[in-house]
Amino acid sequence: MSVTINLGQAIHALSDVLDLVGVDEVFHGKRVGFMALQCGRDLDLSDLALENLFHVGLLHDCGVSSTHAHRCLINEMDGEGVEFHCRKGSELLGQFPPLAHLQTIVRYHHTHWDVFPTLDVSQDTARLANLIYLVDRVDALAVPHYESDLLLARHTIRDTVWRLSGSYFAPNLVTLFMDLSDNEAFWLSLEPRHLIRFIYERERESQLVPITFPELRQLALLFARIVDAKSPYTMEHSLGTARLARFLAERAGLAIETCEKIEVAGLLHDLGKLQVPDEILDKPGALTREERAMIQRHSFETYQILRGITGLEDITLWAAYHHETLDGHGYPFHRRGAELTLEVRIIAVSDVFQALAQRRPYRKPLSPQEILEMLRSFVHQNHLDGEVVDLVEQHLQVSWETATGLEPPSMENSQDR
Ligand SMILES: [Fe+2]
Ligand SMILES: [Fe+2]
Ligand SMILES: [Fe+2]
Repeated sequence: MSVTINLGQAIHALSDVLDLVGVDEVFHGKRVGFMALQCGRDLDLSDLALENLFHVGLLHDCGVSSTHAHRCLINEMDGEGVEFHCRKGSELLGQFPPLAHLQTIVRYHHTHWDVFPTLDVSQDTARLANLIYLVDRVDALAVPHYESDLLLARHTIRDTVWRLSGSYFAPNLVTLFMDLSDNEAFWLSLEPRHLIRFIYERERESQLVPITFPELRQLALLFARIVDAKSPYTMEHSLGTARLARFLAERAGLAIETCEKIEVAGLLHDLGKLQVPDEILDKPGALTREERAMIQRHSFETYQILRGITGLEDITLWAAYHHETLDGHGYPFHRRGAELTLEVRIIAVSDVFQALAQRRPYRKPLSPQEILEMLRSFVHQNHLDGEVVDLVEQHLQVSWETATGLEPPSMENSQDR
């Protein structure tokens, strides 16, 4: 199977997901992408190289998925976790062929310029990685000033960059940046409304590209790994939900293409959880009303992130409806009955099953039989679909193994199919 998606939009969606990690410090990747592109235009790069530079700017911090780590990286010039997120981000991109060419730049986006001669990295890559580093640190220095006195603070920021020329940053990149940032317009362009417009305008130029199912799955895994790494309790959740959803879809006799898309929707369903602070997701005790309300935003956030990608329309709805219930009392859209298709119902059951099979801060994992009893009670309350739960019952042990990954069933290798 192949699907046609807009890759530029998918990259922007990934950058939206990374923004969610920032919680209150959003737009970091977008500002870095924007500044890198402005500098890149003075470097005589080809259109394709500029496009890549913009994309790597958007995605450079894809190895960060805890809000704590994000705060440290933004607030400190050389914070802890620097090396880790560079390696992790580079590894993640390397697993998705359409973006694998950005991997080395991400790997070295915190490397000081004077260290490159000791490394086996091409001149071109070193220059682009160092450019990302430079504008990344400019943004970190600017963060405390965005909502107040950026135009006044810009002088200090420029002085800092100048002092680091030759050690942290390549001298010619520093000169180029000093020229470019010597006016108010450069700094004012970093405000959210102007940035969003800029990104929207670029998106209109991006193309639809056919990607194969294994590639789509890798893209979804890229999203899912960012989400799953956020909390040890949700680590395997998206993967397990996706495996079980696909297994049940196959047992329900759905077409192979639909089964593949259901698996992708399973991988993506909890994307919006990135916006929930770590301390709420990992809280050992009962949640307050405010905390519950915060968690309940997540499936709407999933919807908002995915709906921007042309080509993923079905998958978007299947993922976004995973907390809707047949009686219309779910969230966030309060869809009911026939509005919830079999695909959605399969994902909803798989999500609950996988969550119950996992250890959580506040309870032990449930056994297959206990999970089935819970699912039955949800069917009784008209929350979940009875026929899908019948399927679970017919394949209870395999469903449990599929959801937990403790004994991987055949679909573990579905990437090759
Ligand atoms: Fe970084
Ligand atoms: Fe960064
Ligand atoms: Fe969820």
